[in-house]
Amino acid sequence: METKTKFGNSEGPSRVDGRMKVTGRAKYSAEYSVKGVTYGVLVGSTIAKGTIKTIDTKKAEGAPGVLSVITYLNAPKIPGYQTDAPQPKGALKIFYDNQVYFNGQPIALVVADSFERALFAASLVSATYDKGEHQTNLKANIANGTAPRNGKDYIRGQEDAYKTAPIKIEQEYIIPTEVHNPMELHAIIARWDADDKITVYDKTQGVKSTQRSIAQAFKLPPENVQVTAPFVGGAFGAALRTWPHEIAAVLAAKVVKQPVKLVLSRADMFTSVGYRPHTWQKIGLGATADGKLVGITHEAAGQTSAYEDFTEGVVNISQLMYACPNVNTKYKIVSLNVNTPAPMRGPGEATGAFALESALDELSYAVNIDPIELRVLNYAETDPSSSRPYSSKFLKDAYQLGADKIGWSNRKQQPGSVTESGWLTGYGMGGGLFGAYRGAATVTARMMADGTLILQTAVTDIGPGTGTAMVNIASELMGVPAANIRFDMGDSSLPPSPTQGGSQVTSTVGSAVNDACKELKDKFMQLNGTNEGGSLDFVKILKDHNLPQLEVTTSSKGGAEQGKYAMFSWSVHFMKVLVNPVTGVVKIDKAVSVADCGHVVSPKTARSQIIGGSIMGTGMALMEEAVIDHRYGRLVNNNFGDYHVPVNADIPQVEALFVNKPDPYINPMGAKGMGEIATIGVAAAIANAVYNATGKRVRDLPITPDKLI
Ligand code: MOS
Repeated sequence: METKTKFGNSEGPSRVDGRMKVTGRAKYSAEYSVKGVTYGVLVGSTIAKGTIKTIDTKKAEGAPGVLSVITYLNAPKIPGYQTDAPQPKGALKIFYDNQVYFNGQPIALVVADSFERALFAASLVSATYDKGEHQTNLKANIANGTAPRNGKDYIRGQEDAYKTAPIKIEQEYIIPTEVHNPMELHAIIARWDADDKITVYDKTQGVKSTQRSIAQAFKLPPENVQVTAPFVGGAFGAALRTWPHEIAAVLAAKVVKQPVKLVLSRADMFTSVGYRPHTWQKIGLGATADGKLVGITHEAAGQTSAYEDFTEGVVNISQLMYACPNVNTKYKIVSLNVNTPAPMRGPGEATGAFALESALDELSYAVNIDPIELRVLNYAETDPSSSRPYSSKFLKDAYQLGADKIGWSNRKQQPGSVTESGWLTGYGMGGGLFGAYRGAATVTARMMADGTLILQTAVTDIGPGTGTAMVNIASELMGVPAANIRFDMGDSSLPPSPTQGGSQVTSTVGSAVNDACKELKDKFMQLNGTNEGGSLDFVKILKDHNLPQLEVTTSSKGGAEQGKYAMFSWSVHFMKVLVNPVTGVVKIDKAVSVADCGHVVSPKTARSQIIGGSIMGTGMALMEEAVIDHRYGRLVNNNFGDYHVPVNADIPQVEALFVNKPDPYINPMGAKGMGEIATIGVAAAIANAVYNATGKRVRDLPITPDKLI
């Protein structure tokens, strides 16, 4: 399956909510109109470590329209936060005490009757501090890294076997901090409906998990917390958890006894909702002269905050990706005066793949073997970490599809040997994997007398097109046109569904939709006294039995097959780049991404998801870097003027291709996930193409022009 144009049509139904989104009828959390709403603006600390000595809120309190200025001094106790000790390690407890752990940490929340008045009053809040000596520099603190709790060093075969191999690559790779920065700012409107009952319109990837967090913090029965998030304007992992600003808004609404809307500023987005952590890696690769891997050693150290351990699977990919008898990995976290990171699309694996797939490329030159051939030589036919068979793996097909599409045969192995119109020209590839999961979900399927099929479950859609995919699955099963199916989602009062994340929603919720539709169909067949489900006239059957509707609620989860097989989605990305020999500017000339993600249930949205992942990987490779001035421990480019992300002009035609062979075991659709693999491996593909074009190996991202001239 493929398409020719950048924004052209591909097969399959269009987004069910596309029209609502482009016409502005889709409501995002800050857009709900709530009676009597007030506005909250956060004030951040201006030091990175220490204690608040004094905090002056007088001027702000006297400013026009101000209802309250909340600080640790006057904040009502949050029942779920209370301990007798200083803040325990874990999520930052807002307004808990006078401790400052990072620069920009919220120290006050101003609530006023308009956003502008709140913003102005926030500028009047000032604090003095007892400053501690902060640490924000990962490189300077790597030696202080510690193995995370429950984190174990991994060893298979012999340790550091690469060191004695005939061919040896040993290099360090660095990725900077990258910030999710979805287009929609994180926002919440909190409204107490009674003393023990609250409604929030909140940007979240999981309405049920947000419901649980707020219920825990305020000691409420979960069902007394209503979380509404039918539309989410991107998240990429930043909205996987409940952050302090959400708790602050709920608290503030209690204080001012009116609903409070709190929208983070773009600058807040850099310090309040996580990021992909600055990570150092070292890879040792050993191989025979004919390119067979003998040993892989992968070490990594990623930053975390001073108050919470954040871990991700940076080194896992080296345990899983290739057939190699000797593999050892080590992963450390380094506690710094920064806010806590968060999973960001392809968490861990995207970081690890940059190092591993760059190193493989380096090896391909050392042994003078084509990079694809080298990967095929070391292809894992069974999972090397567990020896279990794969549920499905068609990565070789993906290599072939991508190589053909990018024109890999035009690539020259000799770096810097090809120019096009004066630009150095190179080809590169890099791939990855991500676990293919299936969790538990419950779906209600209801057939109405007019033939409308309503599906309901709590899951959110952060952009990949979950509603569209679910409608597709139901449409095929029930023989009901997509236009007659409504998918209700993003509401905590609906049947439980997982948080949208980890590339598992299509698999998990899709299976529940599948099972619910089957059960509903069975019910119709029973009513009708037939065992033939092919041509059921639902409207007629309901009418015949004088029923206004018929519904089922079905729970569904993965089974024993998940223990029997190693389940992964696979990707490979190909890039053709042009590098200006004078300015060092890198232009992506052509990008091809191929996914082995099982059966593609929603081709159009799948394609756009892969394109989005490729663009995100391009930002990672060429532009994105959150820079801290270590003198102050403060970000210097916390805005879109200085923090560069790819724009339309940076992105060429991106081809998204799919092997599209069903996985026989994972779920009834045969669909594996694709959200993460869309980004995993992209940055390496670009770095490898840049090397092929220039002979310059850049191992610290982003590949900015200064590194190439
Ligand atoms: Mo994603 S990092 O699974 O939201």
